[in-house]
Amino acid sequence: MKLFLDTAEIDEIRTAVRWGVIDGVTTNPTLYAKAGGGSYDEVLREICALTPGAVSAEVISDDVEGMLEEGRHFASLAPNIYVKVAMSENGLEAISRLKAEGIRTNCTLIFTANQGLLAAKAGASFLSPFVGRLDDVNEDGLIVIRELAEIVAIHDLETEVLAASIRHPRHITESALAGAHIATLPFKVLQQMIHHPLTDKGIAQFKKDWAAATGS
Ligand code: E4P
Repeated sequence: MKLFLDTAEIDEIRTAVRWGVIDGVTTNPTLYAKAGGGSYDEVLREICALTPGAVSAEVISDDVEGMLEEGRHFASLAPNIYVKVAMSENGLEAISRLKAEGIRTNCTLIFTANQGLLAAKAGASFLSPFVGRLDDVNEDGLIVIRELAEIVAIHDLETEVLAASIRHPRHITESALAGAHIATLPFKVLQQMIHHPLTDKGIAQFKKDWAAATGS
């Protein structure tokens, strides 16, 4: 299973890449606004230089021509860009036309397996169901991951299910078990996955015992 970092913060990406556990990065307008810094293009170029993995850049136009123009521009920035397009009638057309031009896409804001199926039919490389936002409205986001992963497997569709809107480490475990090919997670959740009180306690005890035995 691939893990992407869900952030536009360069320092977070640099750190996670050093740990050797990150296969790509997803950004969106909210994450870019939160990170501050340079223009979206500059931030994307920097991220793409830090990781050879897939980097998602999201279009904001509502009309097909606008989406295509933004998508072509993002794709010209680096070879590992995936153009993120929100699920909509125009979004499906843009995904299908970008695919015809050889530009890879990530269909975002997916909340049902049917939306994911349509995005796969249109030619999206990644399907991004939002687990946390479904949980927020009293639904079970993992059901969509499980259904979509099964549909992709049964019909041998050329696409990958990317579990997005991850809120805590359990979402990662459950997404992996539900068959997601990728999960994108905030840096904080990545840190939460690393640490465990018994691990920290164990390290401290080993150090203490070593010092007592060696007098160091
Ligand atoms: C990533 O591709 C999504 O844009 C992101 O995971 C959304 O997360 P949120 O629901 O926490 O904003």
